Amino acid sequence: MTDSQPRLVVLTGAGISAESGLKTFRDGDGLWENHAIEDVATPEAWVRDPELVLRFYDERRTQVRRAKPNPAHHALAELEQAGFDVRIVTQNIDDLHERAGSRDVLHLHGEILKARSSIDPRLLYPLPRGGIKLGDLCDKGSQLRPHVVWFGEAVPTYPHACDIVAEADLLLVVGTSLSVMPAAMLVDQAPVECPCILVDPKASHLSPRWVKALDRPASEGLPTLAEHWKRENRLW
Ligand code: APR
Repeated sequence: MTDSQPRLVVLTGAGISAESGLKTFRDGDGLWENHAIEDVATPEAWVRDPELVLRFYDERRTQVRRAKPNPAHHALAELEQAGFDVRIVTQNIDDLHERAGSRDVLHLHGEILKARSSIDPRLLYPLPRGGIKLGDLCDKGSQLRPHVVWFGEAVPTYPHACDIVAEADLLLVVGTSLSVMPAAMLVDQAPVECPCILVDPKASHLSPRWVKALDRPASEGLPTLAEHWKRENRLW
């Protein structure tokens, strides 16, 4: 691999973790089929019923801990280990990219295995053993809450994500319905000349940006792409 390696930027959503057993949000039986967003994933829900919110994230945390990275996560980590410049921007709050070995992962919507101050989103803390309980306070004295960006809240890492996508030589979008802002706008931050590839069984998000849309599950589509790029020793 040469130093000035072309940069692969990968925008991932819940679909990349679906084959690890983690529910997506908007597919059949998705998370939002079984929970009202306004009951568990908004600042108002946190004020109204913090214990319900904590139970929702405790359950998701249990699922995340039980899950294992799938071939899609591993394909991206292996590209990085093969010397490719791979930057991942994920909407997911699981740690499957990191557990697969990816080292450059930016979380847009937080990380479920971390806690944060209820007052200041910049103050992050290790998760208390046994999960967050009402009355667990951070060192500044405010209640701990899940390190998750809720609907209606700012996305503090979005500007950094824009900078990453703006430097992409190839943008790979995997397993996202592109239905949540501002994450969905990242596709338009890619340079005009940057090819964009979509991997999703329902690659139905018709966009002129896609030079290739693989209507396949991530655990098939990504290893296929990664093997091709490694064989050719170049992207695209
Ligand atoms: N491989 C690839 N893609 C898949 C797979 C799979 N095995 N299974 C499902 N998908 C696709 C679906 O077709 C869909 O396009 O993954 C996408 C999942 O879309 P959503 O459920 O909307 O998830 P996501 O796009 O990540 O949601 C974005 O919304 O609720 C908020 O904060 C939450 O980060 C989340 C954001």
